[in-house]
Amino acid sequence: MPSKTPYKVLCVCLGNICRSPTAEVVFRHYCDAHGLNVIVDSAGTSNYHPNKAPDRRSQQHAMQRGYDLSALRARQMCLNDFLEFDLILAMDYENFENIQSFMVKAVSQFGEHNIRAKIALMSEHDPQYNQQAVPDPYYGGADGFERVLDQCESSSQAWVHFLKEQMSVV
Ligand code: 4NP
Repeated sequence: MPSKTPYKVLCVCLGNICRSPTAEVVFRHYCDAHGLNVIVDSAGTSNYHPNKAPDRRSQQHAMQRGYDLSALRARQMCLNDFLEFDLILAMDYENFENIQSFMVKAVSQFGEHNIRAKIALMSEHDPQYNQQAVPDPYYGGADGFERVLDQCESSSQAWVHFLKEQMSVV
């Protein structure tokens, strides 16, 4: 039976203008395609680009595959995210460590029993890119943006299969 309360996923990278907005829209696409009751958002560990739209290159490459990133706006992750989200997905290992540091602060502020979020890598269940970082495309060329899309598509599908199994046994 489908659950009524949506499962909430937060995709996190450094700037929230390249990888995590791409992950947000791709992840949402596969959840919707499989009828999963999941809310997806994204944020950055940094506050480098507050309220900025996704990087023009990310938008262009995503649009070539039918993903519209134009309405998204960057934000830094905050301690409340650990109360709100079930799953926080790090794009790379540095993001993972920075998210863990935020979580330590959230635990001391709110108490461990109030923390809802688990932290995992975007590639956690992905057989193709297993445990691999999503490489930062910001200072590179077009191939980097295509690689982000390839990994987001592959890893999102793997998460959707994992979550489907989890939701059907609860
Ligand atoms: P993202 O990429 O973490 O995938 O959004 C970056 C965006 C901006 C910067 C670094 C990475 N920056 O240094 O401004």
